[in-house]
Amino acid sequence: MTSPLRLGIAGLGTVGTGVVKIIQNHHDLVAGRAGRRIEIVAVSARNRSKKRGIDLSGYDWEDDPVALAERSDIDLVVELMGGSDGPAKATTVAALSHGKDVVTANKAMLAMHGQELAERAEAAGRALRFEAAVAGGIPVVKSLAEGLAGNRITRVMGVMNGTCNYILTRMEDAKLPYKKVFEEARKLGYLEADPSLDVGGIDAGHKLALLTALAFGTRVDFSGVHIEGIEHITIEDITRAGDMGFRVKLLGVARMTGRGLEQRMTPCLVSKGSPLGRLEGATNMVVLEGDSVGQIVLRGPGAGEGPTASAVMGDVVDIARGLRVPVFGLPASALEQAPAAITATPAPYYLRLELLDKPGALARIAAVLGDVGISIDRMRQYGHAEAVAPVLIVTHKTTRDALDVALSRFGATGVLAAEPVAIRIEAF
Ligand code: NAP
Ligand code: HSE
Repeated sequence: MTSPLRLGIAGLGTVGTGVVKIIQNHHDLVAGRAGRRIEIVAVSARNRSKKRGIDLSGYDWEDDPVALAERSDIDLVVELMGGSDGPAKATTVAALSHGKDVVTANKAMLAMHGQELAERAEAAGRALRFEAAVAGGIPVVKSLAEGLAGNRITRVMGVMNGTCNYILTRMEDAKLPYKKVFEEARKLGYLEADPSLDVGGIDAGHKLALLTALAFGTRVDFSGVHIEGIEHITIEDITRAGDMGFRVKLLGVARMTGRGLEQRMTPCLVSKGSPLGRLEGATNMVVLEGDSVGQIVLRGPGAGEGPTASAVMGDVVDIARGLRVPVFGLPASALEQAPAAITATPAPYYLRLELLDKPGALARIAAVLGDVGISIDRMRQYGHAEAVAPVLIVTHKTTRDALDVALSRFGATGVLAAEPVAIRIEAF
């Protein structure tokens, strides 16, 4: 066997602890696969005396993760502290500039500084790997960068935030309002310290931006991701959409269009019977479409100690084997700066309207849709309760622009009892 790969681990929280456990429990298995031993030399975290349920006695301790990254007896720095800037970025930069490879699970850092860090890694001739940053235990980065390297990718799509999927499926199953389920998720420890990262769609948007770069050979452009969270999804929307055969998902979609790169992370409807529609709880699912392979569906745990550490270890073993892949699948200098395109791809939409019980109310709504060229695929009206009737409409494919014109004209019909709700239906 060749010399061991010597690791420094910065961050001993959920993921860092999981990585230490795998290295300790599967030492021989991993060494056999890597062709060399993988040894932890030093670790770093904020609080040295914190009980972590793992034996750290054989490793040096560094209070400063940058000092850990600069040590001459370390080959690979595993960055598991989190945060887009601060110590995570300083540690990554220090490691690369001191000739070390880096493995990170930090989607926020790569979404904000992916291009800069990829350039630094390549200039230094080092690897920067991030499988754990997207969809936890699902090997989606490897699938795009390696397994599907012979394809022109046509669409990347997926549920990439387990917390949001838990909230949406729990609301539906228990018929509970958003606020109640949000509090449940908080008690279960599902929410990030800043919950808006989850429910505001930002965490999932970070992940989508990374997959987009890998899929389309473009520079990471988080600012180009159109993001809407799930905070305004009501139990009413979930139940009514369910009646029409749909489930609400916080869905990421990226595709290259003639106008530029379309990236969105927004609540969408998917068919109940589709794999995405059947996705329950905190599980993630990523759908990859390529011109040769067709469609691939990857499903699995998107977070947690074991799954995320599993993804980190996949990267560590690859580096131990000497496998070198450009950070985003292409040399950093070859990544294109694609313009961000506003979503213009036509799609069917679901509309939920609360109509007053007036003669011709429905006809007036249908007339507005007809005037702007939107065709109705199917619709359902429920019985009037307190002189207001919910009406659900599924349109044929239309553009968001046409829909916005229709929505702006609905008010003048005088038949609406509440703001209409419109949700895009993503074909799958
Ligand atoms: P965590 O449990 O909060 O752990 C963070 C660790 O970093 C802690 O050990 C903390 O030290 C240490 N740390 C923070 N600031 C530091 C500093 N200035 N110097 C040294 N150490 C510092 O976080 P996590 O859940 O393991 O997440 C780690 C990374 O993985 C993040 O980028 C996250 O987005 C990503 N990720 C997490 C998951 C998941 O399921 N948890 C899934 C995918 C990706 P103390 O322990 O002493 O406070
Ligand atoms: N908060 C994230 C989620 C953790 O719920 O999916 C994994 O990135």
